Amino acid sequence: MRYAIVSDIHSNLEALNSALEIIDKMNVDAVFSCGDIVGYGPNPEECINIIKKLSVDSVVGNHDYSVNHREEEELFNVYARLAMQWTRKVLTVESQLFLKSLPFFIEHRDFTLFHGSLEKNNPFRYILSLQDASLSFENIKTKVGFFGHSHIAGYFVKSKENRINYFPCISGCKINLKADEKYLINVGSIGQPRDGNPKGAFAIYDTEKQTVEIIRFTYDIETTYKKIVQIGLPRFLGERLFSGV
Ligand SMILES: [Fe+2]
Repeated sequence: MRYAIVSDIHSNLEALNSALEIIDKMNVDAVFSCGDIVGYGPNPEECINIIKKLSVDSVVGNHDYSVNHREEEELFNVYARLAMQWTRKVLTVESQLFLKSLPFFIEHRDFTLFHGSLEKNNPFRYILSLQDASLSFENIKTKVGFFGHSHIAGYFVKSKENRINYFPCISGCKINLKADEKYLINVGSIGQPRDGNPKGAFAIYDTEKQTVEIIRFTYDIETTYKKIVQIGLPRFLGERLFSGV
């Protein structure tokens, strides 16, 4: 089987459409999402509709969660909060309920999907260090876990001797999965990359070849930027897209 795994779309319709155009040519059996379909960007309703139309199974991200749980917003910076307040206003009740229905974790036969971490009581913790990764490795039952949240593409490998290493995928990468290792793979962000590369990111997992490829793609940032400014969201949310921060 071949799966595409996307994450952190963040209401960026131009980025999502560009990624799906590539995915469409890659002969995949299904698309999965690690959450944060909404937040920050100008097209939340449109992005949710695409996810629903393509029957993409998604976990809930902290921004998706915040649509129905205002208390989560307390943890947001001012830009995220303003965008969330706008997002709540424009989303239909149907889309709000859709986000409410998303699970924290999905355990597929070949992999596990989550947004932030696999710590049961802290699903929106960031995995940024080897120590953070070790806490999630403790809870993973499958060989591979896919996640997002930090918007930084890269992966952690746990060897059979329980040593953990990290490898960034800023320019994309191909991972050859080894039988005796476990992997936590951050697929990066479709709609708001923060690893210094403004290109969007997603993963293709080939279960037969046992490979995971992180693909970086360009999209029409200018259009997304103009929409963000036009609807009155902070200009910074558009500017950051050009530099990938
Ligand atoms: Fe996010």
